[in-house]
Amino acid sequence: MSASAEMPYFIRPSLQLSAEDKKEAYKEALAAIDANLQGESNMILKMVTINCLLKTFLSYYYWVGFYMVDKGKLIVGPYQGTLGCLSIDFGRGVCGNAASEGQTQLVSDVHALAQGTQHIACDPNSQSEIVVPVFNSQKQLIAVFDVDSTEKHSFDEVDQAFLEELMDKHFGVEDLVYGYQL
Ligand code: SME
Repeated sequence: MSASAEMPYFIRPSLQLSAEDKKEAYKEALAAIDANLQGESNMILKMVTINCLLKTFLSYYYWVGFYMVDKGKLIVGPYQGTLGCLSIDFGRGVCGNAASEGQTQLVSDVHALAQGTQHIACDPNSQSEIVVPVFNSQKQLIAVFDVDSTEKHSFDEVDQAFLEELMDKHFGVEDLVYGYQL
């Protein structure tokens, strides 16, 4: 299924925030995340809650979600937005580079990148992107956290600082539970 530029009824374009409004929105979002995840250890529960609350408070968050490390590649995990690519090789795309380098990727204009190698366009409306590696308490890469905006230049060092701290706080913990117990 090829990605369409037409946004389904439940998706809206990004609304940029000023630097001050961005910091305030992150503080509110992180407070809501902490309140809802207190005492929780299940990884998937944390991921779906983080997706929902960040998208609720940050108006420029268009696609938000996790790609999970699985047998040496990335497969799509919990997300909110239009159809995400199902799997991504390490070293390919913004997500694959975040995974292979273990470093946050900040992209002000995804269309300035080589398509198919440096950037993978799951949704043609995506204009800028941030991807943050997610490590467990043993510093193993378990996922990458991917956010797209339909505006250029949506992401900067403020996003990077808040998101890196958030990922470490909720996934770099000893009691993280990866799955479910039947
Ligand atoms: N743009 C990402 C692919 C994931 S979609 O944005 C959800 C990349 O270049 O790796």
